[in-house]
Amino acid sequence: MTTAAENEFLTRIGPGTPMGTLLRQYWIPACLASELKADGAPLRLMLLGEKLIAFRDSAGKIGIFDHRCPHRCASLFFGRNEEGGLRCAYHGWKFDTEGNCLDMPNVPGEHDLASHVKARAYKAAERNGLVYVYMGERTQAPPLPAIEALLSPPGETALFCRQRECNWLQALEGDVDTAHFTFLHVGKVAPDEVDPNHMERWQLLDRAAQYQVKTADWGTMYAAFRPATQGHYYYRYAHMVMPFWTLFPNGPIAGNILAQGWVPMDDTHTMVFTLMWKGATPPLLNKLDGSQIPHLLRESPMQPNTTDWFGRWRTVASAENDYLIDRDMQRTESFSGISGLFPQDSAMTESMDAIADRTLEHLVPSDRMIVMTRRRLYEAA
Ligand code: FES
Ligand SMILES: [Fe+2]
Repeated sequence: MTTAAENEFLTRIGPGTPMGTLLRQYWIPACLASELKADGAPLRLMLLGEKLIAFRDSAGKIGIFDHRCPHRCASLFFGRNEEGGLRCAYHGWKFDTEGNCLDMPNVPGEHDLASHVKARAYKAAERNGLVYVYMGERTQAPPLPAIEALLSPPGETALFCRQRECNWLQALEGDVDTAHFTFLHVGKVAPDEVDPNHMERWQLLDRAAQYQVKTADWGTMYAAFRPATQGHYYYRYAHMVMPFWTLFPNGPIAGNILAQGWVPMDDTHTMVFTLMWKGATPPLLNKLDGSQIPHLLRESPMQPNTTDWFGRWRTVASAENDYLIDRDMQRTESFSGISGLFPQDSAMTESMDAIADRTLEHLVPSDRMIVMTRRRLYEAA
C-alpha cells in the first residue's frame, strides 16, 4: 500500500521537493518548436510548478526564463520580442536568450549595471520539432534523451501535445496499465467482431492477462501475456523510461517507435507530449465488417489555445462537461460512453481527484507494473 507520506513524496514536483529535484536532473519537453516564432509573442509556460516565459529571438534562438523581470518583477509575457532580445514592457530592460541584460534604458550610464543583472534563464534546446528545457542545478547539463522516437526525423513522426488536468503520476500510471484497455477502450467489442488474424484479438478473448514486471537502469518494464494459438502466447510490452516517458504497446514491436512524456506543469496539471512513428502498423481500428470500432478515435477535438498558464492543448471533452458522456451509447455500443481514446483516459485519471489519494486503493496483480514504477521513482528521488 502507498502511505499518505509516500503519496506526497511521489506526486509533489515543485522546487525543493525530492521528486521535483529528480525531474530537474533531466532535459524535459517544454513546448512544440512551432509554438515559438522568431520575434513572435512570448509564450507562457508552466513547468514543474514554475511560471516561465519562452521566446524565439530574431536569429531563431530560444530563451526560457522565470517570467518575472529581474528589475521589479513585472511579467515578461507582456514584453517586446524584437531585435535580438526580449524587452520588458515596464521600464524597457532587454534580455538575450541566455538572460543577459543588454540594455537598461531607464538608468543613465547603464552599461556597468546591466552586466551585473541577469534574468533567471534555463538552458533550452531544440531538436526534431520539440523544445527542451533543463531546469536543474548542474552547470553542465546532461545529454538530451536518446529514446528512438525522439530521434526519428520530424517528417516521419507525428508530434503533438495534450493537457491532462491532474497530477502527472496518475496520468503516467494510466499509460503502463494495459489491463484497462480491454475494458475502458474496447470493453464492448466482441472477439468475433474483429479480424481473426489481428493479434489484438487475443486481448478480447482473454481480458485478464498475466504479468512479468522488471526494473532496469533506465526505468521499469512489463510483459503482459495471455494464451494465443496452440503453444503460443500473445505478449504486450511496455516501458517506463526515466523520469516520465512511457513506451506503450500499439502494434508489432519492430515498428512500435513511439513515446509519451508526462511532463508535470504543476502538481495538478500535466502536459503529455506524444511522438509516434508514422510508418508503424496501425492498431486495431475496424471491425470485420469494415466499420470503425465506436469511439476509439486517436484524435480528439481540441479547444483553441489561449495565453492562460493552463490554456494550451486542451480537449473539448473535459471534466466541466463530463467528457460529453453519452449514456445511450454506453448502454449499446461503447463501454465508457465517452468518445475518443484520450478523453476516455482523461475521465478516468482526472476523476481520481487532482492528486489521487493512493491510501484508498486495493491493488491486484494486474497493478504490479504500477507498484514497481512508483517504487522505482521513489528510490531514484
Ligand atoms: S520591471 Fe522590467 S524593466 Fe522594470
Ligand atoms: Fe487508455
